[in-house]
Amino acid sequence: MNPITNPYAPGAGSPPLELCGRSAVRRAVEVCIERLRLGRSAKSVVMVGLRGVGKTVLLEQMRRDAEECGVHTVRIETPENRSLPGILAPQLRLALLRLSKIEAAKATAIRGLRALTGFASKLKVSFHDIEVGFDYDSEPGLADNGDLESDLAALLEQIGKAAQRAGTVLVLFLDELQYVHEGQLEALISALHRCAQEQLPVTLVGAGHPQLIGRMGKAKSYAERLFDFPEIGALRDEDAREAIVKPALNEGVEFLEDAVDAMIEKTHGYPYFLQEWGKHTWDVALRSPITESDVENASQQAIAALDESFFRVRFGRLTPVEKRYLRGMAELGPGLHRSGDIAYQLGRTVQSFGPTRNNLIRKGMIWSPTHGDTDFTVPLFDEFMKRIMPGNEWKTAIE
Ligand SMILES: Nc1ncnc2c1ncn2[C@@H]1O[C@H](COP(=O)(O)OP(=O)(O)O)[C@@H](O)[C@H]1O
Ligand SMILES: [Mg+2]
Repeated sequence: MNPITNPYAPGAGSPPLELCGRSAVRRAVEVCIERLRLGRSAKSVVMVGLRGVGKTVLLEQMRRDAEECGVHTVRIETPENRSLPGILAPQLRLALLRLSKIEAAKATAIRGLRALTGFASKLKVSFHDIEVGFDYDSEPGLADNGDLESDLAALLEQIGKAAQRAGTVLVLFLDELQYVHEGQLEALISALHRCAQEQLPVTLVGAGHPQLIGRMGKAKSYAERLFDFPEIGALRDEDAREAIVKPALNEGVEFLEDAVDAMIEKTHGYPYFLQEWGKHTWDVALRSPITESDVENASQQAIAALDESFFRVRFGRLTPVEKRYLRGMAELGPGLHRSGDIAYQLGRTVQSFGPTRNNLIRKGMIWSPTHGDTDFTVPLFDEFMKRIMPGNEWKTAIE
């Protein structure tokens, strides 16, 4: 098929032509926003899932949906090494400037900009990466204690009041929430809590790693009452089918049933993998309809592309013993594994791997859904580990 018209879009954050199987969660967010607009209560939504399941593109789609309904949105990605106030401040400023253009909200929004000045100038002492323009002088006592938790609550409250006056909702779209540090996450939760108590139309639509649920609960015990945590995972078969078939059909290209079945089987319905298989199968196929043997012929390339673009991310930053640990884990196959079973694979005690395991969790390679259990943070990572460290040498490696 012509690669120029290839309709598949593998890549972190690359929007798919068809965003399949996510209508329920999109609807939930829409309901949340509309309830807030009416002054009703609604839980914030934090979507959790592994890398490559489509959280970022979903978040962006929800943001577009919200903007279309006339709601004010703020889009924030949380890079690993930036502070939350550092990335929030410039975006909140933009939101306030927009709200200040609305006559009914003008005075309140300007007070919000004063709050922002107080917030940023005091907190800059602890968070050096705060860089934001000051439009108005600060107001003594307004969000300027120099304490993140109380200042963020005061700032968000002021913004919420401005949004309320404007008859709109302010929705914070925050991606990669797992990178927000403990104390800062706590401050964010508590600021949202304040807004909920005051019935202000401010909410969070977030996305991040599944471990967030536990972390947020630990940060603030009331987090469970404040947030819904829908899980984003692999697509159901019929949605995966649509994700494959529809983009091609738009270009007048068809798939045989067997070909689709083979793709679903190979990708397990994971969105990133579906896009990668779709792309390579398209490029390999000579004519429509695309057949199962086209899928087979494309598989090697699809896997190679995934190894390079998806699996290898961060792999290079691991130490030899960390790689060994992951390889031992992979030997046990997909799913949850007891720390003891992994250590057994490697012929050492659980305790001796304690620091390694902690480092791997910190680096985002594995996580622990329940105490003593470990899983990869990326789907099908076990198969990648076996490809990249074949043979048995890892079993006997001497450190
Ligand atoms: N619902 C979906 N249907 C089809 N493809 C999808 C869907 N969601 C995501 N994708 C594809 O999956 C890949 C990963 O999406 P991304 O949002 O970056 O995942 P995450 O943020 O969870 O790591 C992208 O190539 C995207 O086009
Ligand atoms: Mg993402």
